[in-house]
Order: sequence, then C-alpha cells, then structure tokens
Amino acid sequence: MRETLETTVVEFTPETGIGHITLNRPDALNALSDQLRADLIEGLRLLESENEDQDGIALRAVIVEGADGNFCAGADITEFSESNPGASSERHHYEFIMEFPVPVIAKIRGYCLGGGLETAMACDFRFADEDARFGLPEVDLGIVPGAGGVQFISRLANPAAAKEIAMTGEHISADRARDLGIVTRVPDNLDEATRDFAETIASKPPLSIQAIKESGNIATQTGLREGRQYDRRLFERLLETADHEEGAKAFAEDDYEPEFRGR
Ligand code: COA
Repeated sequence: MRETLETTVVEFTPETGIGHITLNRPDALNALSDQLRADLIEGLRLLESENEDQDGIALRAVIVEGADGNFCAGADITEFSESNPGASSERHHYEFIMEFPVPVIAKIRGYCLGGGLETAMACDFRFADEDARFGLPEVDLGIVPGAGGVQFISRLANPAAAKEIAMTGEHISADRARDLGIVTRVPDNLDEATRDFAETIASKPPLSIQAIKESGNIATQTGLREGRQYDRRLFERLLETADHEEGAKAFAEDDYEPEFRGR
C-alpha cells in the first residue's frame, strides 16, 4: 500500500508488517502545519486499517521520518496565532502516537526542533543520524514548548538537561542527545539499523509488544506498586493467547519456527 496525502506519504509492506510515514513538506523543513498534523494522524489510521479483515494483527511497527534530510523544524511559525496553535486536528498527534497500539520509531536526520522533537519524543524510539540536530527553540519566540518538551526530556534525561535545552534554545548533537537518553541509538547506517530494529519487533508476538508499550507508558505515570499490578494483569491476559501457546510450543520443540499472528 502507498498513499500520498497532502503533506505525508504513507506506505505499508505486508511481508514485514512495517508501516512508514514520511513528513512531506521539505520546503518548510517539514514544519508542523495543521494539515501535516492531521495527515500524520490520518496516516496512522490508514496503517491501522491494514488490520481489518485479517486473521490477527498485520501492522507490527511504524517508522516516521522526514522528507529530504530533515525530520521536522517544529510548529509552523507562519500559522502561529494565540487562539489556535494547531487546534484544528480533532485530536493532537502527540497523544495519537503515544496511544497508538503499535510501536512507533522516529528516524531522524537533520533538524529535529520544537514540536518536531516533541513528536519524536512521543514516539517509542528515536534512531538518529550522527549529523542530526536537536533543540527546543521556543524560548527565542517568547513562548515555551507547548507539547511537553520539558516534561519529556525531564523523564528521558533529567530536569536540569530539560531546562538547559529549553532555556538556551541551543541545538545539541545526536551524540549528546543519545548520552542524555533522549535518542535511543546513533547507528553507522541509519536506514539499515532502523529497518533491522523494526523487523525484530515486527517478528515478535504482536500482543506482547502492544502490552509492553502499554506498560512502558504506564511506568511514566504511576508508582512502582500500581505499575507492577498493571503488568500482572497484562501478563495474565497474555497467558490466554494463541501466540503464547505458539511460543511455548516452539520452545519445547527444537526445530519449530513459531508464527505469531496477534491472537
Ligand atoms: N515554520 C515555518 N517555516 C519554517 C520553519 C518553521 N518552524 N522552519 C523553517 N521554515 C522554513 C523557512 O522559513 C524557509 O522557508 P523559505 O525558503 O520560504 O524562506 C525554509 O523553511 C528553510 O529554512 P531556513 O531558515 O532558510 O533554513 P536554515 O538552514 O537557514 O535554518 C533552521 C534552519 C531550522 C535553523 C531555521 O529554519 C529555524 O530556526 N527554524 C525555526 C525553528 C523553530 O523555531 N521551531 C520552533 C517553532 S515553535
């Protein structure tokens, strides 16, 4: 499947179960216009619709990247108005990505700034080229990162790093972002490493992967006791699945390659 929306390109490869969304406003360094936010959500919905009429779960992982060598230079400044910063998409794309049942990997080249960095941090993983540049430049516009940039970095790294990046507005390198924990990996070959990682996740039992995403999200919102109780419920639910039976069978029988369907 390949669909070209006004500001994104959406692709799905049934053989691997991997979906791909390209932010496609290269003339504006893929800045987040209202249209782009809406097309990003629409792209995820289109990918999710690949599960319809399937015996199990077809969509296993999603990679989001920017066209022409930049991830995203933040909110579209030309659309800025006090009353309506990106409010036209009925639901914010940040929440949509975080709550999307399938893992989302941001593949980052070039600029990843402001709302672009917040979009990447709403994803489950960030794979970056060594030349990528990260920052929260909102301070120089007399505002603050409005989609949780300081909150995200405080959790991924620490509050001092978040305040430093947001207060100075300066760009930081991919290596520094990785050392802080903001970026997951800075591989030698970004395309290959991102694809390999997506394929690894895509080959696992999809219901386990979804439950792990859910658990990781809960971990940032609750205490340990409540989080562990939540995990116990996920564990008990997964014990009932056909994929658990399949995995256990493959473990018991040496020569048997398991086939996980998401049921
Ligand atoms: N919103 C709208 N347009 C943007 C944009 C944004 N956030 N960021 C870049 N663009 C546009 C520029 O206006 C320019 O358009 P033009 O060719 O029609 O003049 C084009 O993208 C290329 O940007 P340019 O500034 O010429 O590239 P550069 O390599 O000199 O600088 C940046 C790159 C990212 C450092 C610079 O564009 C920048 O600081 N952008 C704003 C980042 C920002 O503040 N984001 C947070 C917004 S809350």
